[in-house]
Amino acid sequence: MGGDEKMARTSAMSGFHTLSPSERLRIVSEFAQLDDEEAKLLAKAGGLDMDTANRMIENVIGETQLPMGIATNFLINGKDYLVPMCIEEPSVVAAASKAAKLAREAGGFRASATDPIMIGQIQIVDVADCAKAAEAVMQLKDELMHMLDNIDPILAKYGGGPRDLRARVLKTDGGCMLIAELLVDVRDAMGANAINTMLETIAPRIVEITGGRSLLRIISNLATERMARAEAVWKKNVLGEDAIRIIGRLSGEEPARPSAALSREAFGEQAINDVLRAFWFADHDQHRATTHNKGTMNGIDAVTIATGNDWRAVESGAHSYAAISGRYRSLTKYWKDRDGNLHGSIELPLAVATIGGATRTHPIAKIAQKILGVKSSQELAQVIASVGLAQNFAALYAMATTGLQAGHMKLHASNLAVMAGAKGEQIDKVVQQMIAEKNISAARAKEILEGM
Ligand code: MEV
Repeated sequence: MGGDEKMARTSAMSGFHTLSPSERLRIVSEFAQLDDEEAKLLAKAGGLDMDTANRMIENVIGETQLPMGIATNFLINGKDYLVPMCIEEPSVVAAASKAAKLAREAGGFRASATDPIMIGQIQIVDVADCAKAAEAVMQLKDELMHMLDNIDPILAKYGGGPRDLRARVLKTDGGCMLIAELLVDVRDAMGANAINTMLETIAPRIVEITGGRSLLRIISNLATERMARAEAVWKKNVLGEDAIRIIGRLSGEEPARPSAALSREAFGEQAINDVLRAFWFADHDQHRATTHNKGTMNGIDAVTIATGNDWRAVESGAHSYAAISGRYRSLTKYWKDRDGNLHGSIELPLAVATIGGATRTHPIAKIAQKILGVKSSQELAQVIASVGLAQNFAALYAMATTGLQAGHMKLHASNLAVMAGAKGEQIDKVVQQMIAEKNISAARAKEILEGM
């Protein structure tokens, strides 16, 4: 690992996984300039006191906890991020870090996010002529929008507020109904409260206009106007070199030397072609697509949870968007460029906030945001989309090259080596020997280390 100064500027931290949790915390604290209080809260694990918990939900009797891991190597739009991830599943943090490391070789991730516009829906029932009612609402759109002029001065101060209103007819088994949709730029909030207040304000006037009855007034979690996108390139030679190293390590042998027959390029090409096949499988088969997207959501949820955001909203929006064409598909896409390098992209609605709700009341969520150093909900969405893409690529790449089980065994062996006290290069040596001997255990790790 480099000097402390270097640590503060880059998220590329080789050997980070070999450190103890307190050593890692020290490095992250430096990177994100956490104060002692914040570092102590993280180390304490949990960080949520009973009083705060009791104010968050009803009938509180305790708390549960998830480990927070830090994904390294993320370079997004030229900025380095250490990414806090809260998840119970092993390998996820390591896989995201690895995919980000491989993508870094081609400049990391390029990500973007639309304005944070949420959609609120008003359902009007018992309308005699739905088409006419929709027309009438559209004719009075200006008046309805003016009703919201001063409704949320704080949101307006930060550049947000109502943006548009539309109305459409919905034909259902229970007859036609009118659906009015209000589009609101909610800036850095999730937006549910602000939108619901606005819907309540205009619903009575829409009822007057249409002669119907307003039933549901609620935000939509399919946030198609609040989209995040990310893209990355995994170079053929980078993947080839990595595949050769991993395959060599897993077989317990010296890494295979690039040769004419088994060149870096050939390994890379094979890996890329097989990742593409894995993607096509998902994109055309719903059973596979569900698992494929679950892998993507491993990354997306872990950061969403770490930052105190509503992961059920993000989950339902993501899966709904995956089926928006009428067929449930992959949230990611992959293709090969002329030079044979692999391109990956992701696009999904991401309603995540940096203010409001648990993002501010949960002390650990606040610290997670500080570690990320994001300045807006859009920047947070860009990071989350990049992590989702990295996570999905990592799963496909592992399955298309060495298989997941091999990776899990390596991780397990590596954990045992670290627990036995191995440091730096010793870890790899202990891991390789245990794998070669097909004897992966805490006792063997200790013996090998003692024999060094
Ligand atoms: C496991 O949590 C996620 C994977 O099943 C994703 C995938 O199959 O693509 C490995």
